[in-house]
Amino acid sequence: MLIGKTLVITGVASGIGARTAELAITMGADVIGIDIREPVKSNGSFLAGDLSTADGIAAVVARLPGRFDALLNIAGISGSVGAAKTLAINFYGLRHLTENVAGRLREGGAVVNVASIAGYGWRANLDRARRMVGVPGFPDIERVMADNAVANEIGYPLSKELLLLWTQIAAHQVQFKGRGIRVNAVSPGPVETPILKEFRSVLGDERVDSDISRTGRAGTASDIAPVVLFMASDAARWINGANIACDGGLEASVNADVLGFNPQQG
Ligand SMILES: NC(=O)c1ccc[n+]([C@@H]2O[C@H](COP(=O)([O-])OP(=O)(O)OC[C@H]3O[C@@H](n4cnc5c(N)ncnc54)[C@H](O)[C@@H]3O)[C@@H](O)[C@H]2O)c1
Repeated sequence: MLIGKTLVITGVASGIGARTAELAITMGADVIGIDIREPVKSNGSFLAGDLSTADGIAAVVARLPGRFDALLNIAGISGSVGAAKTLAINFYGLRHLTENVAGRLREGGAVVNVASIAGYGWRANLDRARRMVGVPGFPDIERVMADNAVANEIGYPLSKELLLLWTQIAAHQVQFKGRGIRVNAVSPGPVETPILKEFRSVLGDERVDSDISRTGRAGTASDIAPVVLFMASDAARWINGANIACDGGLEASVNADVLGFNPQQG
């Protein structure tokens, strides 16, 4: 599915990004990885870069090739360093990078955004999400937070709510849709990677353990990587603006509570 394709993958030094890069290469793709940290094991070529600032993103964009097939936005942080930095990496920086390379994606290419079950609340918080997604470019994030009364503790879920909303908007924007470029999201549940320990301190052990018990086990990076690569491949050519839950059934289980149906009762 990926032979001869060039994939740009962020977050390749660890967890889901590292496994996605490794699997992409075994499936015949060329990989250009980006991360703020040097990967221990190299998978394809590597660009060191900080995706949390407009300057860092500009430096990365300057070193990317003029044409590639897909951008896989996997880099992310847990929220432990506060909402401003979290929104910068997980949403505004991600969007800025994507908008800046849109013209380099080949016709029929793809953008895959790794979001999260943590962004489940985007519909319930739609007004705030709409306002914050409506702020263009790479903004003064402290200012955006103040304008929208964003508490520091909600940086992670909020960043993923914005990402899920923007994915659907971008899928229909001319710079993507006009050139047949699909924009989709994949939302993992809890996955055993270094970030999971941080989620325990940010979201609390109770929330993480409850999510894991709903699905029977935590996921692994190998559960997520093939789904991300499928979404980047031509096999997903009729999927656009979608969010694929890759969470062992967690979203369905939460829906049962929120929408008031119980799968146990048939
Ligand atoms: N692990 C989970 O439980 C889980 C659940 C849902 C969603 N996710 C999402 O999956 C994605 C990957 O997470 P993971 O589990 O592999 O975590 P991870 O911590 O193993 O990997 C994240 C990678 O992003 C990189 N990164 C962080 N800040 C960066 C920056 N400023 N510039 C460039 N790179 C940067 C890190 O160096 C790291 O290599 C994230 O977007 C995360 O929100 C993870």
